[in-house]
Amino acid sequence: MPRRTLAPVLLLLGSLALTAACSTGSTPADSAPSPDGPSRTRGNDTGSQVDLTKLKGVNIVNDSSTDPSCPWATSYPDVPGADRMTTAMKKDVEGRLAVFLGTDIGGPPSCGGSAGTDGPEGPELNVSFSFLVASGDVLGVRLGTVDRTSNADGLATRAYWYDGAAKKYRPSPGFIADGSWDAFVSALKKRLEKREGVTPDTVEALDDQESRDAYLDDMAFTTDGDLKVDFDRGTVGLPPAGRISVTLPRATVTPWLSDFGSRAQRQTTNPDDKLDLGAAHTPAPPVAAQPDPGEDTTDCSKAKCIALTFDDGPAAPETGTLLKHLAQYKARATFFVVGQNVATHPDIVRAEMKSGHEIANHSWNHPVLTNLTPAQVRSQLQRTNAAIKAATGKEPTLFRPPYGAIDGKVRAATSLSPVLWDVDTLDWKSHDPAKVAQTVISQAEPNDVVLIHDIHPTSVAAVPEILRTLTARGYHFVTVSHLRATL
Ligand code: NI
Repeated sequence: MPRRTLAPVLLLLGSLALTAACSTGSTPADSAPSPDGPSRTRGNDTGSQVDLTKLKGVNIVNDSSTDPSCPWATSYPDVPGADRMTTAMKKDVEGRLAVFLGTDIGGPPSCGGSAGTDGPEGPELNVSFSFLVASGDVLGVRLGTVDRTSNADGLATRAYWYDGAAKKYRPSPGFIADGSWDAFVSALKKRLEKREGVTPDTVEALDDQESRDAYLDDMAFTTDGDLKVDFDRGTVGLPPAGRISVTLPRATVTPWLSDFGSRAQRQTTNPDDKLDLGAAHTPAPPVAAQPDPGEDTTDCSKAKCIALTFDDGPAAPETGTLLKHLAQYKARATFFVVGQNVATHPDIVRAEMKSGHEIANHSWNHPVLTNLTPAQVRSQLQRTNAAIKAATGKEPTLFRPPYGAIDGKVRAATSLSPVLWDVDTLDWKSHDPAKVAQTVISQAEPNDVVLIHDIHPTSVAAVPEILRTLTARGYHFVTVSHLRATL
C-alpha cells in the first residue's frame, strides 16, 4: 500500500484510542467508544502510534443483530500468534452478550438482561476495539463496551496485552513488578484521593488483590512513557464521578515496572518496525478483485432489478469468496462497510470497488445512531467516509444506519442518503444458507433492496443459490445507486 494512502488510515486508527476517561462526570454518551473520535493528543495519548502494516493476517471478529428492539454489535481483533489473548477477548465479549441477552442465567432470552430495559434510550450493547500497541513482541488492544442497560453505566473499557516473548496473555496488572505493588498502589491512591467522588473508602479495594486486578483492567502507556490507568464508573469513585483516569509520570512509574511492563513502555514510546509475536505466520492470499462487468446499462424502470446489499464487512475470507460468487453471475452489489473494518482491510474494500460494486457507509463501529449526539453521528459517518476514501480514492454517497435506526437528528447530521431495506434475511439469527437463500427467493420483488451480511460464511454460502434462481427469473443485480438512478 502506498504511504500516501496509508497515512489517513493510521490517523483514523490512532484516533480510535479511548481518551475520554480523563474527564470526570462524563455522560455515557460522551464517553461512548469512539463516537466522538477524540482528537489525537501527541505525548499524553495512549494508542496513537499503531502502524497497521505490522498487523499482518489480522482478522476482525464481528457479530451483530439487525433487530431494532434489541440492538447489539460486537467486534474484536484476532491477531495471528496472540491466540490466548484472542481467547480472553472472545470469552469477555461472549459473556457480556450473554448477560445482555439474559441467556447467562438460563431461560429464554430477554433483551437487556436482568437489568431490564427501562433506560430512556432502550437497550443497546456495543463492543468495539482499538489497538494500543502492535510493535516488537508487544500487542495491546482495548475493548470498549457501551451497555445502555447496566444501570446507565455507559462505557466500560478493558486493555488486553500479549507478551510475544513469553507467549502469554497478560492483563494490565502484569506491568507492575511483584515487589513494587505497595509503592504503586500507594502512589495511585494518593492521586485518586484528590479527585471529586473518590474517598478513602472507595479506593480501599485497591488493597485487596482480587478487586485490585478487576479495577486495574485498563492500563496503557502514553507515547511519552507515562502510565495511564483508566477506571470505569463506579469502581474507585462514586458513580456520579463518572470515569476516572490517573496518569503516573514516566520517572515515577519506571522503577516499578516488570520486565513486560518495561517492554510495553518501550514499544509504546519507540515502536519497532514490525510486530513479531514469534508465531509462524502463513500469510492469507490477498483478496483478488474480480473482472468489472463494465458500465451497467440496465434500465430498472423497464427491467426486473434487485439490489443485494452486504453489511458489516469487509471480512476475511468471507468477502473474497462473495466477490467470486458475484463475478460468476456478473452481479453487482452494494457493500455497507463498517469503518473499523475498512481501516483493517482496506485491500478488500479496494477489491470490492475494482470488481464493479458500490461501497457505502455503515458507521464506524455500529452503534444505534439515534442514541448519539449529532456530533457523534457526524463523527461516525465522517470517519468511515474518510477510511473508504483512503482505501478506494472515492467517497461514498449512501449510508445505512445500523438496525435501521434513523430519525430527524441523524438525517440532519449528514448529507449522505440513507438506505434501509425491503427484505431482511435475518441471516445473523439463522446461520443457515438454505434458509437465507429461501427467504430472498420467496420474498424478493422487483426493485427490492435485500439485506445480507458478508461477515457470516453461512450467508456467503447462500449467495450462489440466490443468484442462480433469481437470474433464471430474469432479475438483474444492480447497485443501490443504479437502482435509484434508473427507477
Ligand atoms: Ni449492520
